[in-house]
Amino acid sequence: MEGIGITVTEHLLIHQKESPMATGRFTRLMGELIFSAKIIAREVRKAGLVDILGLTGEVNVQGEAVRKLDDYANNILIYRMQRAGVLCAMASEENADIIEVPDNLPKDEYLLIFDPLDGSSNIDANVNIGTIFSIRKKTSDRPYVTLEDFLHKGTEQVAAGYFLYGSSTMLVYTTGNGVNGFTLDPSVGEFLLSHPDIKTPERGKIYSVNEAYTCYWDEATRRTVEYFKSPENDLGKPYSSRYIGSLVADFHRNLIYGGIFMYPADKRDPAKPRGKLRLLCEAAPLAFVVEQAGGAATDGKTRILDLKPERLHERVPLFIGSRKDVEKATELMSS
Ligand code: AHG
Ligand code: MN
Ligand code: MN
Repeated sequence: MEGIGITVTEHLLIHQKESPMATGRFTRLMGELIFSAKIIAREVRKAGLVDILGLTGEVNVQGEAVRKLDDYANNILIYRMQRAGVLCAMASEENADIIEVPDNLPKDEYLLIFDPLDGSSNIDANVNIGTIFSIRKKTSDRPYVTLEDFLHKGTEQVAAGYFLYGSSTMLVYTTGNGVNGFTLDPSVGEFLLSHPDIKTPERGKIYSVNEAYTCYWDEATRRTVEYFKSPENDLGKPYSSRYIGSLVADFHRNLIYGGIFMYPADKRDPAKPRGKLRLLCEAAPLAFVVEQAGGAATDGKTRILDLKPERLHERVPLFIGSRKDVEKATELMSS
């Protein structure tokens, strides 16, 4: 029938056979995640009208000033996902330690890791922001959850994706069988399939990096970024520079159009020799999505999904996007 879209739940049922892990419990997890995102999207939409812009005055575990919408999104996700009945614990970019599901609430074997609001510095300017999530399963047979249960390679993710609060609200995610994009139809409050089986171009025409930090990069990094600006590159002309400052927005644009996003190591800050972005709640989920869309993601040397974190908030340099662009960048970074 015309005009009737495919919901996420319906899409999961249709593809249940290809995704053996897309069980009823996983569908319930996605349902609660989607409900949380709808609430966050509602607050983002009216952020200018209510006292939810600006700073809370606190500083988070990353040493960053916490904005009210960061806090709001984080609290919504923790509250709702603890009641999803399918998690045993979760980890948030905003919380120093893992967050267990209390004993008085139903639990199961899934682990959720998330960046509740990515691109926070853009909130007050009404620029696109997002939520990034990574879904894993507890593999240890200990009866309780510990930090160790989270410190696993990105290849162990069972699903990953992001919500993008932009001109429309989108959900893009993978369960390991390709990538699908859904757009929220506010008139019915449902995410409907809008971008089936997303594949990213194998070579793009866009590069995204904050060139303000050129003076802090090593020689290999400078050479790599210069390659994308040179008319002698494999494209035969300079790539366009596009940098929004919200990873989810920059990533999503490059996923659809093709291109490479880079956040290199930064020698400026001895606390961040491995750059600013977090492995567990930013790089690993987006690396899963981009590989499922035919792209690639490395830290300049190693495949992101093969990196095993030693700490919950470990940072990692990120080169992610079109396969040929990431391969070239990784070759130049290693030369
Ligand atoms: P978050 O808001 O979750 O802290 O993430 C911000 C990140 C990412 O969204 C973006 O790519 C990057 O910060 C921008 O950093 P710079 O301002 O240093 O370029
Ligand atoms: Mn972020
Ligand atoms: Mn964040």
